[in-house]
Amino acid sequence: MRVQLIATSNGLYPQAVELRERVLLKPIGYTAAKFASEYPEVEQKGEHFVAVIDHPSGRRVVGTVCLLPNYPERGIGKLTQMVVDEQRQREGLGRELVANLERRAFGELGLQALFCHAQEAAAGFYRKMGWEVAGEAFTEAGIRHYRMEFRPT
Ligand SMILES: CC(C)(COP(=O)(O)OP(=O)(O)OC[C@H]1O[C@@H](n2cnc3c(N)ncnc32)[C@H](O)[C@@H]1OP(=O)(O)O)[C@@H](O)C(=O)NCCC(=O)NCCS
Repeated sequence: MRVQLIATSNGLYPQAVELRERVLLKPIGYTAAKFASEYPEVEQKGEHFVAVIDHPSGRRVVGTVCLLPNYPERGIGKLTQMVVDEQRQREGLGRELVANLERRAFGELGLQALFCHAQEAAAGFYRKMGWEVAGEAFTEAGIRHYRMEFRPT
């Protein structure tokens, strides 16, 4: 497995969108098209990381995450659309994707802090990555979420 930062013109990008739709969006009532129309910044300004494995039928995207740099303001970044294929969860792929995103955000882009809107069921995952809850729970797309933040020490 390797993690790559890809452009939306990359042939792997449609696989990443399909994975997001299947594992993350459909369960909360979204199609990829509806999500793209409500959150156009993800496709337009996002940096897309994919976890890729070599399969006899070709390269397969088994995880993805998106970084919105300098969003909503300069120096801050949003982690969004974090997803790992159901068959490959709890194998460390999510951790590897977040590590790559953090290296890019802090090491290359010079951001000062990252945040995400964590579904309640995934908050424990981000906590394991050293992220902290900031503020009260809120509802987004009908699901309880927490704002979570990470700053390098
Ligand atoms: C949440 C998700 C991205 C985690 O990815 P993953 O590849 O399974 O996570 P990893 O295997 O890298 O786990 C890293 C650590 O977090 C823990 N962890 C993973 N998911 C967890 C969860 N939902 N709650 C608590 N801890 C979790 C793992 O046990 C592991 O702990 P360890 O380091 O002590 O062994 C994945 O489960 C997923 O895609 N879920 C469905 C979509 C989703 O909820 N996305 C997030 C929306 S905010």
